[in-house]
Amino acid sequence: MARRKFVVGNWKMNGLSDALGEARAIFAAADSHSSVDVAICPPFTLIGAMVATAPGKAVGGQDCHGAASGAFTGSVAAPMLADAGASLVIVGHSERREGFGESDADVRAKAEAGLSAGLSVILCVGEPLAVRESGGAIDFVLAQVAGSVPESFDPQRLAIAYEPIWAIGTGLVPTVGDVAAMHGAIRGALAERFGDAAQAMRLLYGGSVNGDNAPELLNAGDVDGALVGGASLTAAKFVPIVEAAAAL
Ligand code: 13P
Repeated sequence: MARRKFVVGNWKMNGLSDALGEARAIFAAADSHSSVDVAICPPFTLIGAMVATAPGKAVGGQDCHGAASGAFTGSVAAPMLADAGASLVIVGHSERREGFGESDADVRAKAEAGLSAGLSVILCVGEPLAVRESGGAIDFVLAQVAGSVPESFDPQRLAIAYEPIWAIGTGLVPTVGDVAAMHGAIRGALAERFGDAAQAMRLLYGGSVNGDNAPELLNAGDVDGALVGGASLTAAKFVPIVEAAAAL
């Protein structure tokens, strides 16, 4: 089954309203590459303004609560993201799992909340350096997949992002062979659990993706796109990654 390439910018805790021009430039450039789905996940505070300035484009949240509403000071629920015009949400990013103690069960609840609200979900997994060095990366990541992927969902609306923690923001990237091996293992585990639906799910790689390394990372087996942090903040750095995806 042909899967469309998907290139997503995760702006993390970066971006004031003067960054909206970059988003407009990114989406304008993406218009010339209709074979690639392009999305930007800005901070919550910019979602409404980004949707207003780039109507019809894919704008997403970086997290959501597992409940639809309630007494959770400071949290944002998936229906609120949808109400603000978002069409997707990232859940289970390692900066949430590690920094905010989110468990696989929490991540699964967030993914279910996002799907119930009609959003597409990008569910992140990835191992720390010590696990990679001990040779346990695939087992570690497959356990995260088993624990955090919901039981039933539209496979077109749930993507998995493999983001090795040691590669995030460091300039380090796994070998193309290691990326392909991990993505193949994730696809295999999804196929065992969900059958043919696994072929429709997109698997993204994330961690120090840039315009130089994108061509080979995006070409690795079972890689359907990229989740990009630092290099997504400007059109100058992000558009070459979109172009690399379009060239495949
Ligand atoms: P960098 O691209 O800055 O390494 O971040 C990757 C990431 O965490 C995207 O979610």
